[in-house]
Amino acid sequence: MNENLIKYAENYTARESETLREIARQCYEKRTDSSMLSGFYQGRVLSLLSKMIQPKVVLEIGTYLGYSALCFAEGLATGGKVITLDVNAETQATAKSFAEKSEYKDRIEFRLGSATEIIPKLDETLDLVFIDADKENYSNYYHLVFDKLRLGGCIIADNVLWSGKVLQAESGEEVDPDTRALHEFNQMVLQDRRVANVLLPIRDGLMIVRKEK
Ligand SMILES: C[S@@+](CC[C@H](N)C(=O)[O-])C[C@H]1O[C@@H](n2cnc3c(N)ncnc32)[C@H](O)[C@@H]1O
Repeated sequence: MNENLIKYAENYTARESETLREIARQCYEKRTDSSMLSGFYQGRVLSLLSKMIQPKVVLEIGTYLGYSALCFAEGLATGGKVITLDVNAETQATAKSFAEKSEYKDRIEFRLGSATEIIPKLDETLDLVFIDADKENYSNYYHLVFDKLRLGGCIIADNVLWSGKVLQAESGEEVDPDTRALHEFNQMVLQDRRVANVLLPIRDGLMIVRKEK
């Protein structure tokens, strides 16, 4: 899509909260890894999907600065919560300090550690899962959360277009492990008869999956 049209789409999308604006501002000003942030437009999409699903429990794999966790929190059902996991103590501390300033401070649970170790210990039934951590584990995460996801619940996976590199994987070119893992993840989801899915070409690609069986 041309840049003016993207700008137009952004202009006609509802504004984000002041806390989210502040996270993005500090992230873009101070950090070299800011491409990890969901950012304004994708954040609004995640928030609206959450509002449509009205989840009681959201599991987010990959907190970073807590931007997307706060977006999901906007759609929680009464009494609902977001559980968000990350291995990075430094970014998690920053995420906590931002969440503290928001109206959702009591609705977000932060867990520190590797997702492959934390997920099997979760007792909650999940309504919505956001996969946004190490790319090589996307398929593992999908399998680990699937039985915990309620029927009709959704999994959203970020970066599934991987700046277009998945096309190289599809055409059989030699690719790096992350690209291969993401292409295999997309293939696996498409072949999974238990779900309905759509790959939305928003930002770096969002795979939206609904558990139907
Ligand atoms: C792309 S960022 C998350 C961005 C955030 N969801 C957002 O949209 O603003 C990916 C995060 O995954 C975390 N991560 C990487 N490997 C992980 C693992 N094995 N378990 C948990 N978190 C991991 C990284 O530390 C990083 O903060």
